[in-house]
Amino acid sequence: MSGHNVWTHKGTFLLAAVGSAVGLGNLWRFPYLTGENGGGAFILIYALTIFAVGIPILIAETMLGRTSRQSPIMGMRHLTKTHKTSRAWESIGWLGAASAFLILSFYSVIAGWALHYTWLMLTGSLVGADAATISAGFDALLASPGLMTLYHTLFIAFSALIVGMGIHKGIESGLRIMMPALFVILIVVLIYGVINGDVRAAASFLFTFNIADLSLEGWLQAMGQSFFTLSLGMGAIMAYGAYMSSEASLTRTAIAVAFVDTAVAMVAGLAIFSLVFGAGLETGQGPGLMFVTLPLAFADMPFGALVGGVFFILVLGAAVSSSISLIEPVAAFLVERFDMTRPQAVTIMVVAAWAMGLLTVVSFNVWAEGTISHALFGRSAFEFIELLTNIFMPLGGLLIALFAGWALTQSEVMKELGTNITWFKTWRFLVRFVGPAAVSFVFLRTIPQVEGYVIPSLGALLIVGAFALSQRLRKST
Ligand code: PHE
Repeated sequence: MSGHNVWTHKGTFLLAAVGSAVGLGNLWRFPYLTGENGGGAFILIYALTIFAVGIPILIAETMLGRTSRQSPIMGMRHLTKTHKTSRAWESIGWLGAASAFLILSFYSVIAGWALHYTWLMLTGSLVGADAATISAGFDALLASPGLMTLYHTLFIAFSALIVGMGIHKGIESGLRIMMPALFVILIVVLIYGVINGDVRAAASFLFTFNIADLSLEGWLQAMGQSFFTLSLGMGAIMAYGAYMSSEASLTRTAIAVAFVDTAVAMVAGLAIFSLVFGAGLETGQGPGLMFVTLPLAFADMPFGALVGGVFFILVLGAAVSSSISLIEPVAAFLVERFDMTRPQAVTIMVVAAWAMGLLTVVSFNVWAEGTISHALFGRSAFEFIELLTNIFMPLGGLLIALFAGWALTQSEVMKELGTNITWFKTWRFLVRFVGPAAVSFVFLRTIPQVEGYVIPSLGALLIVGAFALSQRLRKST
């Protein structure tokens, strides 16, 4: 259990978890996926999975980290031993490491776009620009693999430096200022959107729904997004849970994280879509949505270059506090398992994710069409990686729910949760039945429909089958 000291303040886990949860997922991915999937129905599924499935699993995952006090993979191994259950559950840790690696690879590229816009804002290059100019500028960024690679490299190297030097545990004071500041600027943009955009159209787009409008893949994306935005089902929360004080309340903390995270996404969504409808832009324009609409507001707003510059710096801060939580679980594992130094462990993870990130870079230009990925999966490499994370994270969450609800010794779990019996039973019902049923439901509906999906879905079924089998084997010996 090398070097796993506990955070001294009760509230530090909350701050770190909010830092991990709030990021590009809220500001960039949520609005763009909502726009692509027609609005309200997507949000309904997203919100339902956050509250009925996400929060209970968030509690479970934090608990796994806190009881084991180790990195996810080693922690899972430890728990399977102490609770005398199948070693196969350790795959939760491995699946999580795979997710962390995939997410980090594209996360850093998108954060690189924010770096580009920080620069454009602070140099005042976009002051007074119109929609056509701004969207042409974004297209020019996408058309330049070199520039995108440069930003990607800078961002990932900076994140690596923070985790490698071990100062990620000390950035609480930064987060304490940055998170509220980000929220305040979002409100400013929203107010601008209310005055100059069309907030009524935005609200009706976001909050009225016809569930039949949501495509089957939209269901998977909505569920995937709810896990993505909570950093759930892939070990980040478990890794942070390992440092959580035993006194802090798991339930209250999880609920707080989910509320803050959802609030940020909603404000960002309202602000962005007010601008979209106000300026007559396309809702389903894809990953560029945030980077085309927000600069438009900053181009026109008084002191827009300054406000926009500060905004994008805060976006970068939120992205860094998320990306360090993607590096941490894998790095902590390498340190514990192979006795590496922190810098060595971080370098391995980050170099691999950096290289993988080049696939995302070229997905927007030289490999935008006609690749193997298009032939096999009907989509670009970036889109395929996103799709994989939409499966891996809920799958990880499903396994965590089953593990916590069924495989662990329940008396121990109840002690660790530290709640009264009614709440414990409610939580256990949610992780035993509701979470697994909801995730399986979406998987079973969506996956067979997705183009090129046969292979991955078979893979997922195989993993689940292997678990079930090994559980039985274990019990019968
Ligand atoms: N939750 C982060 C965001 O919304 C992304 C993330 C996913 C971070 C998984 C860590 C783990 O930006």
